[in-house]
Amino acid sequence: MTFTLSSHNVIQYLRKLGVCSLEDNVAVEELPVTSGKNVNLLVTTFQEYRPGENTAKHVLLVKQEKNISARGIPQEFFQEWLFSQMLQKFPVLGNIAEIASLVVHFDEENSILVRNYLGEYLELGKFYQTYNIYPCEIAAAIGTSLGVLHRATFNRREYRDFIAAAPQGQFRYQFYNPAQGIESISPDTFGEIASEALQFYILYQRYESVEAAIAKLATLWEPCCLTHNDLKLENILVHSRWNQLDNCLVRLIDWEACAWGEPAFDLGTVVASYLRMWLESLVRDPAMELEESLQLAAVPLETLQPSILALVQAYLVAFPMILEYRRDLIEQVVQFAGLVLLHQMQQSIQYRKHFDNSSICIFQVAKALLTNSQESISTVLGISKSQLLGETFTNFANKQNLVRLYQSKTYLRGC
Ligand SMILES: Nc1ncnc2c1ncn2[C@@H]1O[C@H](COP(=O)(O)OP(=O)(O)O)[C@@H](O)[C@H]1O
Ligand SMILES: [Mg+2]
Repeated sequence: MTFTLSSHNVIQYLRKLGVCSLEDNVAVEELPVTSGKNVNLLVTTFQEYRPGENTAKHVLLVKQEKNISARGIPQEFFQEWLFSQMLQKFPVLGNIAEIASLVVHFDEENSILVRNYLGEYLELGKFYQTYNIYPCEIAAAIGTSLGVLHRATFNRREYRDFIAAAPQGQFRYQFYNPAQGIESISPDTFGEIASEALQFYILYQRYESVEAAIAKLATLWEPCCLTHNDLKLENILVHSRWNQLDNCLVRLIDWEACAWGEPAFDLGTVVASYLRMWLESLVRDPAMELEESLQLAAVPLETLQPSILALVQAYLVAFPMILEYRRDLIEQVVQFAGLVLLHQMQQSIQYRKHFDNSSICIFQVAKALLTNSQESISTVLGISKSQLLGETFTNFANKQNLVRLYQSKTYLRGC
């Protein structure tokens, strides 16, 4: 019988581990469930530094995977722990501040992961929603971190072998190809889906070109570097004083899905996150043409394009060699962005039973990205591929040096 973590027993659990002491005052908060598969508790330990006056000492995120007994030894937390071990073993990676490990403890038996919590950072999705600003520096910082991670591990066997290790007594499955089509609807799921959501499956099956594009993308799959594999905006944090920092504006967290993988998928997932902000702000009126709806979005594509462009350019500047191996990288990034939008739509149908007029718009955009990637590059980035490469590498030639693999410290501008 595995131990079930709760806000009532977490303090005792951490005391037993020696992570917090008996003298500490502790506050526990249950975080809203994001993915639905974990229980996330925020534990703040305080120390009394003068009688009656507490200072925050340490904030920890304690996660437990739900329903673990049904699934045997879970591989996801193990993967995050393995990633943290990898950063320790290989300082070239461990020194990349944006991906630095926050793991304090891993309890494999009970599938509990304890991580340091970064109180000064906030989720990027919430940042954009709250402030409604889209500074290019932030997108560029994501592109640079990702480019540096992919470049540092590219075709390096020692990293590949390390991240492919399986938990004790388990088999490691083959590396996962992210270019997967949408599963057909089964008689079991048929009854679980709202009738209007069936429209999604009908649309998907109607356009053979979509499935053909995904199948082609799958054949191009060539896992070649360490990838995060779940770069939605909830898993990217931005520093609350981002505009005063010269580096480490962003942190990439939640490495549960990391693997030896496909670089275009990581970049495509971030591009999809930006496109979703546009697509989710559409005007939902069945009487309106698709083009009109897209243009009336509350967060227009033109507002996001500079960030998407900055993201891709910074990635290419950090990892220019990728273009020698992948001539069609940009097309693949755009196609993966379309595929990620489709998969997210399927998930939202399954969990929230949601499919409406704006979902049809999202489907049409995803289809265009997948089946017409060449033209879609200009739609997504605001410039053509040749302009992108010309502009990026003129600037790059002026800078001359490759982006450094790591910056030693975060510092405030002018300090
Ligand atoms: N180290 C951290 N610093 C700040 N916030 C964090 C940190 N780790 C997690 N969070 C917040 O908690 C949420 C859930 O954590 P995450 O590891 O992504 O769990 P899940 O697997 O449930 O998605 C994140 O989306 C983020 O908002
Ligand atoms: Mg997460």
